[in-house]
Amino acid sequence: MFENLKPQPADKILALMQMYREDPRDQKIDLGVGVYKNAKGITPVMRAVKAAEKRILEEQESKAYTGLAGDPAFADAMIGLILGNAVPRANIAAVATPGGTGACRQAFEMIRMANPSARVFVSNPTWPNHLSILNYLGIETVQYRYFDGETRGVDFDGMIEDLKTANAGDVVLLHGCCHNPTGANLNIVQWQEVVNLINTRGLVAMIDIAYQGFGDGLEEDAQAVRLVASSVKRCLIAASCSKNFGVYRERTGLLMAISDDAAQTALNQSTLAFLNRQNYSFPPDHGARVVTTILNDDALRADWATELEEVRLSMLGLRQQLADELQRLSGSDRFGFVAQHRGMFSRLGAAPELVEKLRVDHGIYMVGDSRLNIAGLNATTVPILAQAIIDVGV
Ligand code: LMR
Repeated sequence: MFENLKPQPADKILALMQMYREDPRDQKIDLGVGVYKNAKGITPVMRAVKAAEKRILEEQESKAYTGLAGDPAFADAMIGLILGNAVPRANIAAVATPGGTGACRQAFEMIRMANPSARVFVSNPTWPNHLSILNYLGIETVQYRYFDGETRGVDFDGMIEDLKTANAGDVVLLHGCCHNPTGANLNIVQWQEVVNLINTRGLVAMIDIAYQGFGDGLEEDAQAVRLVASSVKRCLIAASCSKNFGVYRERTGLLMAISDDAAQTALNQSTLAFLNRQNYSFPPDHGARVVTTILNDDALRADWATELEEVRLSMLGLRQQLADELQRLSGSDRFGFVAQHRGMFSRLGAAPELVEKLRVDHGIYMVGDSRLNIAGLNATTVPILAQAIIDVGV
C-alpha cells in the first residue's frame, strides 16, 4: 500500500525555514516564515500569556473534554475581540479550531458540503496554504487580480473586474487586514465597494484574519471584517491567535459562520461541530484557555494590548527605517511602498532569481515571491538588507 504514495510538493515557507536552519553562516538573516521576533531575534512568550498560564496551572482542576466546539467562553471572547457589536451573537455559529489553518480548513470543508460546485476566488497572490488546501479538497479556485507589480499596491480595478466574473454562490476569500504575502491592503472605501459587489452578485464572503493588531491597531484592523460581517447575508470568518497572542505552537483559532437566520445559525453550529468531530474531535484547549483568560481579565487584557502595540510599533519603525535606507541608497522613492504596507509582510516585487541571489550571496532568506517578514529584521540588519537589495539590483 505505502508504495503507492507519491512525493508531495514541499510547502515553500516551511522548506525555507529548514534551509535557513541548515545554513552555517553567522550573518544569515531570516525573513521567511511569519513569526514575530524581537530585536534579539527571539519570539517571546507574551507577558499576559505567561501570567494566564500560571493562573491556569494553579486553578485548573480538570482536563476532561470540553465540547466539540471548544469552550463557548473562548468563542464569546474572540467574537467580541474581532466583531465587537457588529453582529448579534445569536447570528454567529462558532467553533474553536487548531490555529487559523484549522479554521480555514473547516471553512473550506463546510463550503464544499454546502455547495460542491462553489468556486473559491482567491487573491493573486494569497497565502500559499489557502491554495494548497483548496486543491487538496478538490475545490475549484479562481485567482482575482490583487497585487499591482508596478505600484506594489492593490490593483483595485483589476480586482473588481475579476470578482464580477463570480457567480451567485461562489466564495470570495479576503484577508481581513495585513494581507499575506503582500502587505498591500484595501482602504475602507474599497472594502465597501467589495461588499456591494458581494451583495449584488449573491456571493459568499470568507475572511481570513490572522494579524489583527499588527497593522494599524486592534480596533482599526477589525474595521473591514466588521463592515463585511454586518453588511452581507452570510459569511465565514477564520481567525488565528498564533500571531497576536504569540501562541503559534498551541494551535489556537476560531471559525465563525454568520447568517441572519436563527434556524440557519443552529444548522451552521451543528455542521461545524460535526466537522470538528470528523477531523480531530475536540479542538486543542490550552491556547484557547489562555486567550480567554486574557481577554476576560481587565488587567491581563490591558497588558496584552500594550505589548501587542509595542510589537506593532516596532514593526512600523523597522518599515520606516528600511524605506528610508532604501531611499538613501537608491536615491529614489521607488521603495516608498515598504512604509505604506501593513502587517508582518511586504512583497518587494523582486524576480525569483534576485531572491535566490539574496539567499546565496548574502544569506538573506525571504519567500521566493519576494515576501519579506519585517519582524525578522532589527535596527542592525535593516541597513545590511537595504544594501543587499541594491547590490543584487532589485
Ligand atoms: C506564514 O505565512 O509564514 C505563516 O502564516 C506561517 C505559515 O504557516 O505559513
